[in-house]
Amino acid sequence: MDLKHRKMTLLLLIVWFPCVVAKTNIILFIADDLGYGDIGCYGNHSVRTPNIDSIASDGIKMTQHLAAASLCTPSRSALLTGRYPVRTGMASPVMMRVIAWASSSCGLPSSEITFAEQTKKAGYMNGLFGKWHLGIHKQRLGDFEHHPLKQGFDYFYGPIYSNLGDFGGESRIITGLMPGWYGKLFSIWAVTAVALLCLFREDYFGAIPFIVFILIWSVPLALVYLLFENFTLLNSFVYRNYDLVEQPVRFAGLSQRLVNEGLDFIQNATNSGKPFLLVMSWVHTHTFLTTSKQFEGRSKFGRYGEALEELDWSVGQILKSVKEFGIDDNTLVYFTSDHGGHLEEGTEGGFNGILKGGKSHGASDGAIRVPGLIKWPRVLEKGKVTDEPTSLMDIYNLVSSVAGVSLPADRHIDGRDILPLLKGGVLVSPHDFLFHYCGNILHAARYRPRDGIKTWKLVTREPDYIPGTTVCQFTCNCNTDVLATPKLYDITVDPGETTPIDSHSKNYKEITPIILKAMGIHKNSIEPAETEFTLRKLAPNLTWQPCCNGTFPFNCYCTDPKYPE
Ligand SMILES: *[C@@H]1O[C@H](CO)[C@@H](O)[C@H](O)[C@H]1NC(C)=O
Ligand SMILES: *[C@@H]1O[C@H](CO)[C@@H](O)[C@H](O)[C@H]1NC(C)=O
Repeated sequence: MDLKHRKMTLLLLIVWFPCVVAKTNIILFIADDLGYGDIGCYGNHSVRTPNIDSIASDGIKMTQHLAAASLCTPSRSALLTGRYPVRTGMASPVMMRVIAWASSSCGLPSSEITFAEQTKKAGYMNGLFGKWHLGIHKQRLGDFEHHPLKQGFDYFYGPIYSNLGDFGGESRIITGLMPGWYGKLFSIWAVTAVALLCLFREDYFGAIPFIVFILIWSVPLALVYLLFENFTLLNSFVYRNYDLVEQPVRFAGLSQRLVNEGLDFIQNATNSGKPFLLVMSWVHTHTFLTTSKQFEGRSKFGRYGEALEELDWSVGQILKSVKEFGIDDNTLVYFTSDHGGHLEEGTEGGFNGILKGGKSHGASDGAIRVPGLIKWPRVLEKGKVTDEPTSLMDIYNLVSSVAGVSLPADRHIDGRDILPLLKGGVLVSPHDFLFHYCGNILHAARYRPRDGIKTWKLVTREPDYIPGTTVCQFTCNCNTDVLATPKLYDITVDPGETTPIDSHSKNYKEITPIILKAMGIHKNSIEPAETEFTLRKLAPNLTWQPCCNGTFPFNCYCTDPKYPE
């Protein structure tokens, strides 16, 4: 090679070099039930969340960042698939909108293509640590049809179902939904027994058949009682991949174990030379609020504050190790929460700032507007804020695009490419409209006209709030009346949805029809998938009960040998 050619080669190398940087690693932090007003960089100056805040100062804060649903299961399904839950069968038509029992057959259909399946196409190593809550089994015990490893993840460790107050706290689902439930259950039994007695008197029916009849009638009620009294036995397990390694979950120290597994995963991926997708799906700050000893008694916000501080610490541990591995520059870090704080749990349920409502409240902003922080030092500026509407479903497009994989062409993806907005090349949200569901019912829509700076929100149905409050009895119902006059809010100046625009005003008359029309077009465009939320699928199946060390219900107890203490 002569000198001229060498120079050319060198020049080409220099020009090419930026194009051959290693693929970007992706870390996604998902908090559970964490509210918009719970962290420092969203204006809460009395909590300590320095590590979470550091993502904002090293990157971009999204102030109008919206979940597709106000409860865990549907919101997480949309996050993983980039699709509204009505399209995937994860929008419930019944009162129960989340998977309530680990042994039910409800779950995210494996025909859906998750973002983990997307990155897999690009040779990523994918790990999920923490909560899943999108099903386990579909047709029989051990088929794991809904398990994370069937949805694109190479490694899973965590409490596969969910964290719940029933695992040790005072706030229990059954007492939340039905205060004094034991008494009520017994009254139902007694009233029906007496009614039966009057209807079919002994002389009419015969004493023995009558007693047998009453006994048979007692079975469903006894079953309900037994199910709720054994909630932990039925629903509390940690899986490592397909292995049940811990039953019941030891929540104290769980964050440390998740961090440990996450760090192991980063190490393994880095050693293997593969890019990675790491999803840390924390159990905080959902009730039951238990932390390791180290965090007890540290916060003026009680157990909630302690869980929040442990969450922040956990995030910090992962961020620190990313720096130590020297991959900080080319790692995209995203922090969010699955939906708003649970107001009905009071001080144990989190804080949504000035937003109205919370978890389960359908389309209220406190239900769906959540923290959204992103940093990617090689690509994104530091310390920027965007007030444009963005969606948790956009994560799908972002992850796909960062991995260099095109979107599936055979289905509708509701997420949009927000990179141009984040990079600053465009200034307006890629979403003209976002649709806000409660279960499978459309409750509201958000409109961001291309011009100006305003975002509008039109509410056609509201939650069934206890009059004079913005809370329901534990959770809200979706099937509420359609408002005779829909309420229009200027979200830009009224984020708390306190003052609907006057329905005689010019703005109302101009904006409302545009949003109503878009809602109609959206509804017609949806081919609803067969719902996973049928009563049959939701019901617990006691013959599918995972059990560690014996045969259900005996000896279902074990501790992970990797973490004996
Ligand atoms: C900060 O968050 C805590 C914990 O949720 C909450 O109780 C408190 O009201 C918030 N304070 C402010 C000033 O936002
Ligand atoms: C990391 O690799 C080790 C050794 O192959 C393996 O035992 C461990 O399960 C891996 N951990 C994770 C979280 O990937």
